Amino acid sequence: MNQGRGKFITLEGVDGAGKSTHLAWLAERVRQRDIEVVVTREPGGTPLGEQLRTLVLGEPMHIETETLLMFAARREHLERVIYPSLAAGKWVISDRFTDATFAYQGGGREMDPRRIETLETWVQGEFQPDLTLVFDVPTDVAARRRGARDLEGESTSSGAPAQASRDRFEQQNRAFFERVRDGYLRRAAQFPQRMKILDANRPLADIQVILENIVSSI
Ligand code: TMP
Repeated sequence: MNQGRGKFITLEGVDGAGKSTHLAWLAERVRQRDIEVVVTREPGGTPLGEQLRTLVLGEPMHIETETLLMFAARREHLERVIYPSLAAGKWVISDRFTDATFAYQGGGREMDPRRIETLETWVQGEFQPDLTLVFDVPTDVAARRRGARDLEGESTSSGAPAQASRDRFEQQNRAFFERVRDGYLRRAAQFPQRMKILDANRPLADIQVILENIVSSI
């Protein structure tokens, strides 16, 4: 249950699905309606959460440690950012939330989802986003986009992608991302009211029309 008057919107998808571009655009559209918007992300969103992000994206660790750190960062995020902002009537748009744990740790790393559900109940009770947008692309398209991002960023003198700039998730293989994608699609099928799948392979303008309609409807 939402605790306040604001809306909580989360954006999800495999790395390379393009959700960051859509997030910035969506936040701007909501602001144009004179609604105060807090843009945030997971893991992260608070000073401690950002430190946990650095650890969890960079340091090798056991899968259960990884999952616990995701929820530790989330607990801070809920308490310090999400709940107070919603209670103040603001909208919160988060780049990822708990569905990412089901998709990445549950799907990608094949952790038993019942364990994740236990942590979900512990950390957030019945609280869920009002709306979750899942940006879906075939795994090979996402991989190409991640590759292009590497080249635009810190490419090496030979022009090859800078592998070192990839975090622990971006370094995973295709099968991992297939499982993450399946994880998102399964979850969206389980919660069709809350979760909307968007074909992120469509032209930007088409996606923006769909987003505009969704924002209007809520
Ligand atoms: P980002 O690249 O979208 O900023 O997200 C950072 C990475 O963290 C991304 O590869 C997905 C991963 N992640 C999880 O594995 N589990 C989670 O619960 C969250 C929130 C993110």
